[in-house]
Amino acid sequence: PVLVVDFGAQYAQLIARRVREAHVFSEIVPATLSAEELAARRPAGIIFSGGPASVHVEGAPDIDPGVYDLGVPVLGICYGAQLVALQLGGTVARTGRAEYGRTPLDVSHPDAVVFGGGQPSHQQVWMSHRDSITEAPAGFTVTASSPDAPVAAMEDVGRRLHAVQFHPEVVHTPHGQQVLERFLYDVCGCEPDWTMTSVIESGVEAVQAQVGDARVICALSGGVDSAVAAALVHRAVGPQLTCVFVDHGLMRENEGEQVVETFRRHQGIELIHVQAQDRFFARLEGLTDPEEKRKAIGEEFIRVFEENTGGITDARFLVQGTLYPDVIESGGSEGSSTIKSHHNVGGLPEDMELELVEPLRTLFKDEVRALGTELGLPDEIVWRQPFPGPGLGVRVIGEVTPERVALLQRADTIVRDEIKAAGLEREIWQAFAVLPDIRSVGVQGDERTYGHPIIIRAVTSEDAMTADWARLPHDLLERMSSRIINEVDGVNRVAYDVTSKPPGTIEWE
Ligand code: XMP
Repeated sequence: PVLVVDFGAQYAQLIARRVREAHVFSEIVPATLSAEELAARRPAGIIFSGGPASVHVEGAPDIDPGVYDLGVPVLGICYGAQLVALQLGGTVARTGRAEYGRTPLDVSHPDAVVFGGGQPSHQQVWMSHRDSITEAPAGFTVTASSPDAPVAAMEDVGRRLHAVQFHPEVVHTPHGQQVLERFLYDVCGCEPDWTMTSVIESGVEAVQAQVGDARVICALSGGVDSAVAAALVHRAVGPQLTCVFVDHGLMRENEGEQVVETFRRHQGIELIHVQAQDRFFARLEGLTDPEEKRKAIGEEFIRVFEENTGGITDARFLVQGTLYPDVIESGGSEGSSTIKSHHNVGGLPEDMELELVEPLRTLFKDEVRALGTELGLPDEIVWRQPFPGPGLGVRVIGEVTPERVALLQRADTIVRDEIKAAGLEREIWQAFAVLPDIRSVGVQGDERTYGHPIIIRAVTSEDAMTADWARLPHDLLERMSSRIINEVDGVNRVAYDVTSKPPGTIEWE
């Protein structure tokens, strides 16, 4: 792999993704690894990310200088570039002249490796720095400059060490991807052979090696991650995999049937479909407090899962759709962990130890979607919006009854259909309907109505940590409104939620 050393900003993830877009596998590693630990991962190249600190601040992150003697190519970016300069004997100064944003770059050295491949000698780059490299270390050639960065790029071709002050990974550096590719292909000698086909091949091998001939179980939620994980594990071990799908009756309209159709019929996966709607509704009767509702749904889920897997006494593995961002966040621990069953899905025979199978733990969300498509999953599943575990239970405010869920399902389908018809499906993070626990007065025909409102919620987001309400076109909102009122009995008013997160949350409960 190519290792991306994380110096503490969000840049590392972006760099790792850009490297993968060049079809080279990349992994993010903490800056605290020693040179030996880095070497042990057999990197084809190492990229130092940018970071928020100044190299001159006490305690600013640095890296084991032994990294420069490994013979492995290094590319320092922004903070990473300054670190290379400083650690190898150059000068980084607080010039008092910061550069932020679009900046003209002057490539002064015609043979500069990272500017090869027909790039213009004058290009726009994205800068974000206060300190500047003012003197390159011995052995380095300065290859580019900008108005306030005399050393905007430098290279030591013999030692295969490169550094750029600007950010090649952001879209505001139009030739940035080319800069990265020149480093990956020409300096590191990488081949662009990391594709979804190769991901499937290596994933299949890894699952087979881990699982052997043991039995594997997987809880399908209907969401993208568990679906793709299950499809990949099935590709690897076929009938050794049993999926369990608990339908709590709080799915979107027709979603339950679609999961069964996709997995049982098309993928040929052994699927236990548990129709537990009645039990969930009985359990939710009379509950109105959001936390009590969530708790009830969660507990009931575990109980139902337990009852339906009780017969699979020889299962030794549990599939989970853990993604790379979760792995990075939790410190990037390697390998798989063993969990006590009751810590996770609960209820599996008391003393049974399940080992996790996490075939997506090196992948980002968009890569998981591409993988799903490659595995033959339909767009409806691959491009499914995030959906909360408690389902429509957190979108029916107040008591959750079969009637109120059915009403919400119809309105929700209209919202999503119209988003899709407007071609906005992939721009919007989530778009859905909420049924509040109030009624309002209206007039339809000549008659006074006293009906339910539906609230439309549509948000844009990168990661659900923050979100903004989507600026949906007014005519789209109008179509949703009139269709909902005309087609959903009992609804006489539609409102649009214009709250960002924070202060709101995406869901209403
Ligand atoms: P909030 O409402 O906290 O939601 O802004 C952030 C994201 O998480 C989803 N969500 C959940 N997902 N189980 C889940 O798997 C849950 O209990 C749950 N609650 C909220 C929500 O849809 C949004 O994408």
